[in-house]
Order: sequence, then structure tokens, then C-alpha cells
Amino acid sequence: MRIQFACLLLVLLSATVLSRDANIKTRYKKFIKQHINEQMSNSGCDQVIGERNIKDSKKKCKITNTFILANITTVKSVCKDKGEKYDNMTKSLQNFDIVVCKLQKRRAKNKKCHYRGSALNRKIIIKCERGFPVHYEKDIRHCENWLNIWCVLQLPVK
Ligand SMILES: *[C@@H]1O[C@H](CO)[C@@H](O)[C@H](O)[C@H]1NC(C)=O
Ligand SMILES: *[C@@H]1O[C@H](CO)[C@@H](O)[C@H](O)[C@H]1NC(C)=O
Repeated sequence: MRIQFACLLLVLLSATVLSRDANIKTRYKKFIKQHINEQMSNSGCDQVIGERNIKDSKKKCKITNTFILANITTVKSVCKDKGEKYDNMTKSLQNFDIVVCKLQKRRAKNKKCHYRGSALNRKIIIKCERGFPVHYEKDIRHCENWLNIWCVLQLPVK
């Protein structure tokens, strides 16, 4: 009786672990689809977001989507030893080239999602689960010199 119970417990436990891992894998794949693109350019938002069919949770045009111009191995290393704790997320130690695509509201009448892209070089904040990036939170400017007012005020430098 006791052994049977232990077996049942074991089965339940491994089922929980397996479904959690499957969930992480699904979110990891979604992260790659939405945020990894080594060849991204600031003029490519409409095309890439359209091709990859990136939508928000209600299947509408996503307000913002950021592409990281690095391969997934490099981004994954942020979850391991190339990142530091940031609230309940992870902040990269290094800067990344990114393209932030922002939805342009004015021309959203036809169902096409129209974006404007900005190329930036920023630290990224991501959510890691068991060493896998599963969520892109935001970028953050790394102000090494606090006397640099442009940096502190988060103003774009061109
Ligand atoms: C990923 O990018 C890094 C840095 O550019 C490079 O060293 C590495 O070989 C790349 N890995 C793969 C699997 O392409
Ligand atoms: C992470 O922290 C933010 C606020 O810092 C909070 O809103 C969010 O619910 C937290 N998420 C988890 C999964 O704990």
C-alpha cells in the first residue's frame, strides 16, 4: 500500500515536472520567434513581424516588439553567467544591438500592423526559467558615467 502510494506520488511529481518543462520549451520557442533576429534592421519591422505573425495575446497588433541582433546562444548566456539579477528578472552585463519596433497608431485602420523601428545599443532585461530566456521585458540604458546627462535622462544620442 505504502509503495503504491509512493509510486503514485512519483508519477504525479514527474508529470508536473514534465508539463512545466514543456511549458518552458513553448515559451522559449516563442521568445526566439519574437525576439531573435541577427539580421534585423530598423526598416524591417513590418516585414519581419508580418512574416513571423507576431501578435499580442488578443491576436491584435503588438504595441512594441524588440528584436535582439544576436544568436540565441549568446542571449541564453545572459541567463547563465552573462547576466545579473534585476528584480525577478535578469539584466545582461553587456550591451546588445537591438531594434525596437513601435506600432504607429495613425495608420492602423486597415488590419495591417505598421511599425517604426529604432536601432539601439542597450542592456536587455529578460526573464529566465531554468536557464532559458522565456520573456523579453525591456531594454535599459547603461549609464557608466552618471555625469552624462543624456544617458541619465535616457535621451537618444545620435
Ligand atoms: C553566436 O554568436 C557569437 C558572438 O557573435 C559567436 O561567437 C558564436 O559562434 C555564435 N554561435 C552560433 C551557434 O552561431
Ligand atoms: C515580478 O516583479 C514585478 C514587479 O517588480 C511584478 O509586477 C511581477 O508580478 C513579478 N512577476 C513574478 C512572476 O513574480
